[in-house]
Amino acid sequence: MTIINENYLKLRAGYLFPEIGRRVREFAAANPDKDIIRMGIGDVTQPLSSAIIKAFHEGVEEMGNKSTFKGYGPEQGYDFLREAIATNDYKLRGVEISADEIFVSDGSKCDTGNIQEIFGNVNIIAICDPVYPVYADTTVMSGKTGICQPNGYFDNIVYMPCNEGNGFIPELPDTRPDLIFLCFPNNPTGTVATKEVLKLWVDYAIANKSIILYDAAYEAFITDPSIPHSIFEIDGAKSVAIEFRSFSKTAGFTGTRCAFTVIPNELMAYDKTGNPVAVKPLWMRRQTTKFNGVSYPVQKAAAAIYSEQGKKEVKELISYYLENAEIIRESLAASGFQVFGGRNAPYVWVKTKNNLTSWEFFDKLLNEINVVGTPGSGFGPAGEGYFRFSAFADRENVTKAMDRIKLLSF
Ligand code: MLT
Repeated sequence: MTIINENYLKLRAGYLFPEIGRRVREFAAANPDKDIIRMGIGDVTQPLSSAIIKAFHEGVEEMGNKSTFKGYGPEQGYDFLREAIATNDYKLRGVEISADEIFVSDGSKCDTGNIQEIFGNVNIIAICDPVYPVYADTTVMSGKTGICQPNGYFDNIVYMPCNEGNGFIPELPDTRPDLIFLCFPNNPTGTVATKEVLKLWVDYAIANKSIILYDAAYEAFITDPSIPHSIFEIDGAKSVAIEFRSFSKTAGFTGTRCAFTVIPNELMAYDKTGNPVAVKPLWMRRQTTKFNGVSYPVQKAAAAIYSEQGKKEVKELISYYLENAEIIRESLAASGFQVFGGRNAPYVWVKTKNNLTSWEFFDKLLNEINVVGTPGSGFGPAGEGYFRFSAFADRENVTKAMDRIKLLSF
C-alpha cells in the first residue's frame, strides 16, 4: 500500500489561480461571443524588450556552436549574472551582497516554497492575512501545520491580519514565530513598507532568533525614493533575512523563468541543541542535489536587463504598468470604490460594494461586464470583501474594463 503525503489532504480546494481559470473557461465556453478582459492573475502582457531579446538570441546562437556550447551550468547561476545582480541591485544601493550569496533560480514561487525544506517541521511560520497563497500552501505541504479550521485558518500558523485598521501592514505577533514571510510591495494589497516598518521587523527577528523570508518580487515598481527595495537596506538584516527577487514582473520573464534568492553568509539557524548552523550551505546543498540551474540563454537574457539599454527599457515597461495601476485606482475611486495600493506596486486592492463577498463580486464582474479579477478571500479569510485588480494588462483593456465597471449597478 502506498501512502501519500497526508499534508496534501489538509489543503483547501484548488490553488487560487487555476480555480479562477476554471471559472473563466466555463464562462467563455458558454459565452463564446463575449470579450473577456483578464485582470486576475498577475501575468505580464508586454513582450520582452529588445536588449533582452538580442541577448537571448546570442545565447541561443552560442548553444548551437561547438566552441561556445554549454552543458550543465553552475547550479547557483553563472557568475556574469550573479555579479551583475550584486552590483546593480545591491552595491549601487549601498548594500554589500557578494555574488556568492546569490542563487539564480527559475522562480520566486518555487524558491519561497522550496526554502522550507531546509528548516525543521517544528518551526512555527507567520504569514500575513491576506497573503500570496504559495506561502501558506507550501507550509501546509511541508507538514508544519495542523488541520484547517472552519474559519479558514490552519493550526500552527501565526496569522498576521492586514486590514484598513493597520494600513495593511502586519503588526508584530503575540506568539513568537520562527520563520516570518513578508512581501513588499505587497501581493495582494499593493502596500509598501517604509524603512521604519522593516527596521521593526528586523529588530524583532534579531531579538527572537527568527528568520524573515522577504519576498521582494515587486521591488522594481517602487518609484518613491524613501521606500527600501531590499530588506538588506536595513541594518542587521543580513543576520536574519533571506530575500527573494524575480525577473518575472520586472522584465516580463513570467514565461521565460528567471529569479534569484539571496542568503547572506552570516545568516544562522540552529540545530536541536542550540548550536548555530549557517543557512547558505544548506540551500547550496539542496540546490546542487535537486536543481540543475536556469538555462544559459535565459541567464544571458536576464543579464541584459542590467545593460544601459536594458535598464532604460525595463524602466519604460514598469512605468507602463504603473500608469495602468493609476488609471485603475482613479477610475475605481471615481466609481465610488474604496481603493488601496497601486502606487509603487502593480496591484490595486479594492473593497467590494454592498457587502458582496469577494466571489460574489468576482461572479458579478465576470457575468455582467466580462472582467476578471482576483477575489480577495482567495488570499485568506481577512481578504473577504475585497478584490484585487492586476495592472499587468494591455492599456486598451484596462481602460475598457474601467469603462465597463462604471456601468455596474449595485
Ligand atoms: C499573482 O497573480 O499573485 C502572481 O502572478 C502569482 C505568481 O507570481 O506566482
